[in-house]
Amino acid sequence: MDKIQNSLSLCTDNNQRTWLAAACRAALAAGSLIRKRYEQPHTITMKGAIDLVTETDVASEAAITASLTEDTPGIPIMAEETATSHATVAERLWIVDPLDGTTNFAHGFPFFAVSIALLDRGTPVVGVVYAPLSDELFFAVSGCGARLNDRKISVTGTGRLIGALVATGFPYQVEATLPTVMRQMQAVLPRVRDIRRAGAAALDLAHVACGRLDGFYEMNLQPWDTAAGWLLVQEAGGMVSTFSGAPFSPFSSDILASNGILHPQLLPLVQ
Ligand code: IPD
Ligand code: CA
Ligand code: CA
Repeated sequence: MDKIQNSLSLCTDNNQRTWLAAACRAALAAGSLIRKRYEQPHTITMKGAIDLVTETDVASEAAITASLTEDTPGIPIMAEETATSHATVAERLWIVDPLDGTTNFAHGFPFFAVSIALLDRGTPVVGVVYAPLSDELFFAVSGCGARLNDRKISVTGTGRLIGALVATGFPYQVEATLPTVMRQMQAVLPRVRDIRRAGAAALDLAHVACGRLDGFYEMNLQPWDTAAGWLLVQEAGGMVSTFSGAPFSPFSSDILASNGILHPQLLPLVQ
């Protein structure tokens, strides 16, 4: 079945259906562009010592922006490669990561995604994460649950840390964050089954939502890394907070997402 049509059966509210269809259409278009460019040579520009941007990040962002603007004129867009500020706005706002996992993409490591979320006064309404190589469309609408392609998804029921597969990420600001990263690793690694660092935060969150991971934590993230995945995890029955246990917002820089059951066990380890 057509992925956009299929996604629409998730909810009955007309506005939500319009926004979900717009987010899915944009994510699928960008994903197709990314897939075609994956095995081509890339033009790489450095944003920092290890922080890359490729021509595909920029092209994907342009495609998403054009698609969202056509389908939902009037809703502003905050997208990674053109964002000028992180100021929240009172009304609706699209938050876009045109290519999450750029380092993986540039190296030919097959773990990256497009992430698109709609916030309404800071609350997530729609979240879409699309992994183009596996053709997996993760989507959620507030109050309506979460899906991966045509099936409903939910977080794991893992109750003990020693049985948990947890993911994390390492911020680009390596020097400044290394002591915290190492302290957290020292606390978490001996207590869980294993840790993964796959390299795309939005996809890590989607994997918590669909039960491939039991938890995920990372610091120094941006709104476009977390906004869509946050809703996916919540709608799949999981829990998302900051490292201190405060309610999460995509404007928080640190995130702990879990199946909910493990949250109280993971919190003291990442604090
Ligand atoms: C990055 C990825 C990575 C995470 C970084 C993010 P980008 O996003 O999500 O997994 O560790 O903190 O910035 O730069 O590939 O869009
Ligand atoms: Ca990102
Ligand atoms: Ca990106």
